[in-house]
Amino acid sequence: MSKLFSSLPLAACLVAGAAVRGTFAAPQEIDVERRIDALVARMTLEEKIGQLRQTNGGAVGEALSEDMSAAPLDPAFLADVTAGRYGSLLGRRGAVSYNILQRAAVAGRLGIPLLIGHDMIHSSRTCYPIPLALACAFDEDLWTRIGAAIAVESLTVGCNWTFTPMIDVARDARWGRIAESAGSDPLVTSRFGVALVKGLQGDDLADGRHIAACAKHYVAYGAPLGGRDYNAVELSDATLRDVYLPPFRAAVAAGVATVMPAFHSYNDVPCTMNAYLLRDILRGEMGFRGLTISDWGAVDELVAHGVATPGADAAAKALNGGIDMEMVTTHFADGLAEAVAKGTVREAAIDAAVRNVLRVKFRLGLFDHPTIDAAALEATIDFAAHRALAREAAAKSCVLLKNDGVLPLAAPRVALVGDIATNSRQMQGTWSTFDFSNTTNDTLLAGLVADGVDVAYTEAYTLTGRVDRVALARACDAADVVVACFGDYLEKTGENNASARIELPGEQLAVIDAVKATGRPLVAVVFGGRPLAIPELAEKADAIVMAWNPGGAGGWGVADVLTGAAEPYGRLTTDFPTATGECPKFYSRTLTGRHHVPGARWTTRYNDVPFASVYPFGYGRTYTTFAYAGERVSVEGAEVVFAADVTNTGSRKGRELVQVYTHDVVAQTVRPRRELKGFRRVELAPGETRRVEIRVPAATLGYTVDKVYRVEPGRFEAWIAPDSDSGKTLTFRLD
Ligand code: BGC
Repeated sequence: MSKLFSSLPLAACLVAGAAVRGTFAAPQEIDVERRIDALVARMTLEEKIGQLRQTNGGAVGEALSEDMSAAPLDPAFLADVTAGRYGSLLGRRGAVSYNILQRAAVAGRLGIPLLIGHDMIHSSRTCYPIPLALACAFDEDLWTRIGAAIAVESLTVGCNWTFTPMIDVARDARWGRIAESAGSDPLVTSRFGVALVKGLQGDDLADGRHIAACAKHYVAYGAPLGGRDYNAVELSDATLRDVYLPPFRAAVAAGVATVMPAFHSYNDVPCTMNAYLLRDILRGEMGFRGLTISDWGAVDELVAHGVATPGADAAAKALNGGIDMEMVTTHFADGLAEAVAKGTVREAAIDAAVRNVLRVKFRLGLFDHPTIDAAALEATIDFAAHRALAREAAAKSCVLLKNDGVLPLAAPRVALVGDIATNSRQMQGTWSTFDFSNTTNDTLLAGLVADGVDVAYTEAYTLTGRVDRVALARACDAADVVVACFGDYLEKTGENNASARIELPGEQLAVIDAVKATGRPLVAVVFGGRPLAIPELAEKADAIVMAWNPGGAGGWGVADVLTGAAEPYGRLTTDFPTATGECPKFYSRTLTGRHHVPGARWTTRYNDVPFASVYPFGYGRTYTTFAYAGERVSVEGAEVVFAADVTNTGSRKGRELVQVYTHDVVAQTVRPRRELKGFRRVELAPGETRRVEIRVPAATLGYTVDKVYRVEPGRFEAWIAPDSDSGKTLTFRLD
């Protein structure tokens, strides 16, 4: 075995592009540490504890909106960090509230400014597609541009910290928060998270255009038993390390300022007090030096978990476990001093937590610039460009799942049916915050009209209700092609919105048959925040566009894809199962002793649905077609080089997303059948062929055994292919 591939301790490895940050501090960092030391030395225990509390901004916001001059000037409050949850502190008057609070805070004894955080997940004043949709664009530049746009808009409403990116690998379509994730794959999730952190935080958090990001929910929150939110997670340490930790490692390496542990328990210990996760791995192995904040009320929930009593005990367990700041509940405020007096918490541990809080405030430049000149900042923002970005993102998030030639729309008369086609709110998504730019014009109907389509709209049905068959038939008869909306409402995904059924609700199956009975081609546009079980659409529709919750300019972006004004660009980052009962279903399943063999009785399968996904991870069509030839893989030094000749065999220009997958053939432990290791998009003119090369660091082909990540010599299988289910099997060896 060469030196390169010998076993390495995890912290020293390059995994998913993540390198642990250097231990040598830059001069300005040394200066910040000195300022922190000086400040901490002057603080009373009560003041220190005040830095570890986050108050619910709802109450503060209400108080401020009554009389904007009357900030709650309680000195204890001024040590707090305030969450502006649900925008109650923010909104249009956010920067005014922000400045009142910051002025009051810095006028206090210690002059410490506030962090004011909010969930600007895929939206601030402009609403972008939900993360699950955005991830399908496989476009790091787009993700970073959106992060930057969210950051600067957030500052104008008085928010200097956001609880995003959510980088929970999510493999179970029943879990409602899959909408907030980048899907089922660690590599895609890592790249998505890093790109967003770069956009949100920029190169300099203190430049007045960026805000602190928060990697959440640490860790494996996306794997609750049964897909039910908040439920316990059962998985091996190796899977934790190889699947769920890499996005966090990558975000920490990218300098994410804060991390939020998840609600659930891992190894029967709530993440909120899980020192193995928070201290050994996050701080020890990954070298994280930022701030950890509990999730909403999660310190209090240690009591409900049955592992702590309220007050000093809950506070001690959370702080000792690795939480720096308690969100909303008051066990730290009520019990930490008592815990110090009892000796269950060392004051040095409190100092360390305070230092982590202050470091973020210094990094944000808040001590030097505590207030915001929102009007001046706004004058520098091109909101029209942000709206154009939202439209571009909506189009790029769409995944063309099927097309029997009916798209792009060319028929003279189009019937548009389904209630959601005229509902601008439903275009948005689970964390749509303000979207001041939103108007009733942000609908699919308005988008089609704007693109010059001769379209007649009839509601005919709601997604969950009855079908007016007469109205539907009349609408179809008057048209050459029918664009029908399917899916589910946005309220069905997001936090605590697990679904035991991911099939199309209401009478949507009857809509398919009713349209088909008219003989008109059926274009299905599917909305929603999770992968849905749509085998009937796959079988009967003439075209299917997965539009997700496409955001505040979503109707327009989706219309652009339907009309061909934009090329289909997205590829799935999750599998689409045939039925709910298959969940969790994901392409990178580990091998079994009885691999599935079509038609064979004693190989793994369900007896009532096909084994293959209706649409697999990585899948997505375009308005042209591509062929792969000359696929090859070779090892060059520390890299594995994949190459293929990709030809545009259709008659339109188009962009192919070339993907590479590997599988370790004989390993020490059971390995996934395929794992995505890289991707590259290539634009080709009709008839054009290009040799596409993707280089993968061999150091990323390993896995963990007994807590040690290793890349082992031996034979690998490999694919350079358009999705996770196709491609010629190639082989290579690492020596
Ligand atoms: C969610 C977090 C969110 C927090 C603050 C919690 O309920 O789990 O994702 O950041 O609330 O709003």
